[in-house]
Amino acid sequence: MKKVITYGTFDMFHKGHYNILKRAKEYGDYLIVGVTGENYDIGRGKLSVNDTLATRIENVKNTGLVDEIIVEEYLGQKIGDLIKYDIDYFVIGDDWKGKFDHLSRYCEMVYLERTKGISSTELREKSFKNYNIGVVCDETDDNEIVKEAKLVNGFQVKGVYSPQKEISEKFKEKYDLENIYYEYDELIENSDIIYVRCTIEKRVDLIRQALKKGKHIIYDPPASYKASEIKELIQLAKENNVILMENTKMVHIYVFNQLLWMTQGGLIGDILSFNCSISKNDEERSNLFYDLSSLTLLPMLKILGQDYEKSDYMVTKDGDDIEFASMNFVYPNARAVINVGNKLRVDNQLEIIGTEATIRMKENWWRSKSFSLYKPGGSEAEIYNTNFEGNGFKYLIKSMSTMLKNGRIESMGVFEDESIKIAEILEEIHEINE
Ligand code: CTP
Repeated sequence: MKKVITYGTFDMFHKGHYNILKRAKEYGDYLIVGVTGENYDIGRGKLSVNDTLATRIENVKNTGLVDEIIVEEYLGQKIGDLIKYDIDYFVIGDDWKGKFDHLSRYCEMVYLERTKGISSTELREKSFKNYNIGVVCDETDDNEIVKEAKLVNGFQVKGVYSPQKEISEKFKEKYDLENIYYEYDELIENSDIIYVRCTIEKRVDLIRQALKKGKHIIYDPPASYKASEIKELIQLAKENNVILMENTKMVHIYVFNQLLWMTQGGLIGDILSFNCSISKNDEERSNLFYDLSSLTLLPMLKILGQDYEKSDYMVTKDGDDIEFASMNFVYPNARAVINVGNKLRVDNQLEIIGTEATIRMKENWWRSKSFSLYKPGGSEAEIYNTNFEGNGFKYLIKSMSTMLKNGRIESMGVFEDESIKIAEILEEIHEINE
């Protein structure tokens, strides 16, 4: 019996897919189809897939051409499959010509001509609602949103506005945007989503204006160090039925969810200590302290909760700016220490000590793609990781895309009460500092 295998995503099943399966079947007596798993696609940056794995499998099955369906779950699986299923022919479209020649040691490689004029990409583009993102900024760095948004179906950064004309002009040119606006109202008018990227003092006002016009928001957190203002914005977003989303990429990345799963789910035992530090030296931005603190307080609140018994802050200043802060939180059975350095070097690291294991994330932990887990007894660390290119903004935009599709406005990445609690802590620190 001759066995044939082929692979694909088979999203929005179309004639090209049917044709290749039909022709693949003709090469033998038994056809196996590998359909890509969701995690595999997300991991390799293919965020645009529309149909669920179950639907894609069902569509392949419904052709009646296939003898067996398997799921392709990881890079390199194909080699194991060829051996396991004792394959004679590997058939694939000629868009992959030459890419799989190294597999010809295991079986015969066959590249078939693609059906012309149709692809899943094209079908997705036609079927998706388009969302224009407008950026309001006071600097010319885009935080990679322009490039990353393009990786999610239907999303694109189209325009920019800055209160300083030169900045918008530089920004438009640097990122090759279609539009530049000289009034904020015009940017709002011409966008579905506004990305607010500016220093903390201006955020609330810019967010408020766009929310009132019924636009979705992505903003660099915190929106404010005043809890009352955060509450007002959340309320305004609800009234206008729009999404108000913090640009905290970490919570949209797979490895952070693994970390939460382990710590919240008791897999490292009872948590005894949460120790986290962060620092950044950015002469351009004032009050960066609040941005850094917000990022650092979030994992603490997620892991240890909000019910600490006591808190204590030590703050030093450089002019008007907070230069260093050490925040201590006493929980019933645990302690948290957070050190934040603004223009002052503090080693960036995150350590969570549990009764059964310790987790560490080193250097720039907030955008780390991995963490290490150490168990007592000195055995080697277990490494948990995820691989992706870019800074992860695409995963945040993908979450927003899912929320828009499901008609959901409250983010489950950063919960509302977490944003409010962070502002309450920052407000206390701000008051000490006044
Ligand atoms: N295929 C084909 N003719 C087409 C489209 C796809 O022969 N017009 C083949 C591919 O070469 C591959 C298989 O169908 O062997 C599954 O392809 P897949 O990547 O799932 O489909 P595409 O339409 O190419 O999807 P995308 O646009 O996302 O790349």
